[in-house]
Amino acid sequence: MPTAPTSPTNLLNWQSDGRAVPTVADGNRYLIGGEIREWKGLASEVKSCLFFNQNGVIVRPTLGYAPVLDANEALEALHAAQKAWDNGQGEWPTSTVAERIAAVEAFVVRMKAVRETVVELIMWEIGKNLADAQKEFDRTVQYIEDTIVSLKELDRKNSGFTVEKGFLAQIRRSPFGPTLCMGPYNYPLNETFTTLIPAIIMGNPVISKLPRFGQLLNTPLLEAFRDCFPAGVVNIINGKGSEIIPPILQQGGVELLAFIGGSKTADQLKTYHPKPHRLKSILSLDAKNLAVVLPDADIKVTIPQLVAGALGFNGQRCTALKIIFVHRSRVDEVVNALSVAVNNLQGGLPWTKGVSLTPLADLNAAKWLRELIDEAVLMGAKVMNEGGGDVIENFMHPAVVYPVTSEMRLHEVEQFGPVIPVRAYDDIAEVMEYAVETQFGQQVSLFGYDPKVLGPLIDAMVNQVSRVNLNVQCQRGPDTFPFTGRKASAEGTLSVSDALKRFSIRTLVATDYSEANRDLVNDIIAARSSNFLTTDFLF
Ligand code: G3H
Repeated sequence: MPTAPTSPTNLLNWQSDGRAVPTVADGNRYLIGGEIREWKGLASEVKSCLFFNQNGVIVRPTLGYAPVLDANEALEALHAAQKAWDNGQGEWPTSTVAERIAAVEAFVVRMKAVRETVVELIMWEIGKNLADAQKEFDRTVQYIEDTIVSLKELDRKNSGFTVEKGFLAQIRRSPFGPTLCMGPYNYPLNETFTTLIPAIIMGNPVISKLPRFGQLLNTPLLEAFRDCFPAGVVNIINGKGSEIIPPILQQGGVELLAFIGGSKTADQLKTYHPKPHRLKSILSLDAKNLAVVLPDADIKVTIPQLVAGALGFNGQRCTALKIIFVHRSRVDEVVNALSVAVNNLQGGLPWTKGVSLTPLADLNAAKWLRELIDEAVLMGAKVMNEGGGDVIENFMHPAVVYPVTSEMRLHEVEQFGPVIPVRAYDDIAEVMEYAVETQFGQQVSLFGYDPKVLGPLIDAMVNQVSRVNLNVQCQRGPDTFPFTGRKASAEGTLSVSDALKRFSIRTLVATDYSEANRDLVNDIIAARSSNFLTTDFLF
């Protein structure tokens, strides 16, 4: 059995290496209506998910305090967004595309200035390792810059006129109105911004509710949001979702909901709106992405991809590989190689060079993961790597669990943590049956090289999931690729260019092609009296 060089018990020896705790003294603030407010009510103590052994006692540093807003304050955020919208006549929704781009560009400059602070907080709040925390920040900046490029391109395409069947029309895109954005804790910066930025750049005022974990890391950006956008365009609120979100939606004033999280919550959110048909939704939800190791898979390619795919950020990714199907002819070899590779991963503090395994962001997650493993073991599975599933505090050493069968919860549920269920299959029909039966439909990774096997398998899989990866792990990026899912995994698509379309609606100005109307359109353009009806060309 492969040994565990970083046995969880060794973690008891984790000492603070002297790295300063990034205390956020002004975390108890939020942004409403262009005003950064300090919350006088209940605040939550934000503790690091990292823990240290100090003279035999486990301590978890306090990073600061975050507001726990109440329903009244949350409604103020809605009212501020509605005021900025002003029935579609506000400064922001009627501004030119160029003006909105300029505001976002100014914001990016300010954002880049706080990179180090935000990266540090990503590590301390949710335990993401340094390389991945830096990647999250840089990728977000890149996403915003790509969004600007994409919007310019979109606007250039829409800056002309269409003459069709006696009509003259200009077809552009316009905003929906007040938008509620909620990102997840595993990408508290990136996935907060990949909805917020496209929403505002298309002219929608936003209420952004920060995730459960990863609130303080957004604090250094409050001033930039306040300074770069008109009052009420960006409202950032914190608090318990179940208390502050229902009142916002029940008012009926939210036109667009962008939510990245669990499907049960998404279902619940939609019911709060008095006119669910009116609430447009963009949802990125649960997933149980499968890897399929075919008889001719290359072990040297497959194992590193399986490990990265299943254990990147300790498996706390919606795109993580969450079940692995291995052809029976290769299963012993794959399970053994996987176990060795997993036990070669280094656990520790996020900034330590080479560390990939870190404490879980949700302090209760290890308990639930342990339950899933214990149940599987009771039903006949084994933990195949030494120390797999061992828990100390909120750190879990990853477990390779085999053989997993359909009665076990691990076979069905999204574990969202460092547990790798492996199932052997004899016939590819068993894999397809799983892909068809599961309620999820995000992605699959296929490992093998036989075109006669892979061709038909791709054809079958593309109607079950929205991305088929060949000899590579499942993932969202590059962010210009469409990111979506079938069945319970998503509603709408969130690539750079798709998001711009999803957060806006095609809208046109049309007239019949009479001389008077042609002159009228020309006069509006010449007088520059409309920001919508214009032939301005963005470079
Ligand atoms: O948690 C879901 C993320 O969108 C996954 O993104 O594949 O780049 O880690 P990623």
